[in-house]
Amino acid sequence: MTAHWNYLTDINWAAFDPTKVDPELAKVVRAAALVEYGGGHYADYLCSVFSDDPEFCQVARDWAAEEIQHGQALGKWAETVDASYDLEARYKDFRSGYSLDTAQQNSVRGSRAGELVARCMVETGTSSYYTAMAEQAAEPVLKQICQHIAADELRHYKLFYTHLNHYLQREPMSLLARLRVALGRIAESEDDELAYAYYAANRAEGQAYDRETFSRAYMRRAFGFYRQHHIERVVGMVFKACGLSPQSLIYKGASRVAWWSLNRKVKQLEKLAA
Ligand SMILES: [Fe+2]
Ligand SMILES: [Fe+2]
Repeated sequence: MTAHWNYLTDINWAAFDPTKVDPELAKVVRAAALVEYGGGHYADYLCSVFSDDPEFCQVARDWAAEEIQHGQALGKWAETVDASYDLEARYKDFRSGYSLDTAQQNSVRGSRAGELVARCMVETGTSSYYTAMAEQAAEPVLKQICQHIAADELRHYKLFYTHLNHYLQREPMSLLARLRVALGRIAESEDDELAYAYYAANRAEGQAYDRETFSRAYMRRAFGFYRQHHIERVVGMVFKACGLSPQSLIYKGASRVAWWSLNRKVKQLEKLAA
């Protein structure tokens, strides 16, 4: 499998318009670039968890190459906006403060099917995130990059979902177990990785790391991009990965609750920042 696009040749970099750059959005892009650029470490982890499945291991390597390209594209955009941002240097900084144990033989999700449910959650998050970001971005190059990335992330979801169904035949998981992994992974979006990436990407010289502060700073900006239709799609994708029908009444209720809680969270974060 080769990448569906190339960040150097398929993006019209000449269209870059500095007058349309939103500095708040740029902060989030700087952080996202670091997380994406570290995709190779997740492939190491997946290849360790799925060590007896060389076919899936190759899938994971190809997938990671696409994630790394997301980092390169977002990083190049951030470097274009601000020459003091250097993707390689910021990435080194990020890795020195945050790392993933890639040598684990067993999935942190309890089983390999569980691991694939968690991967589906991550791709649900990223596909909706870049879709929302593409709609929000006024700067034409960033818009184009986010549209390409969002398409990749949706393909990644489908890819892991296909492998999930394959593994579920060997390792059945109850609805409750799938929901537990799914919601657990969603809750982790407030963990160290994104907060530390936001810190490494945006900190002032000599500024110390505080997880709470940088987690809030990141979430306040990132969650604000979402509109109701993005959240409805997120809930549909979560339902599908858990084996629930997205056409049910529960789906409608869950979408409403999710949209309401997101708004409440954004308001809380804005209040804390004011
Ligand atoms: Fe990505
Ligand atoms: Fe992805």
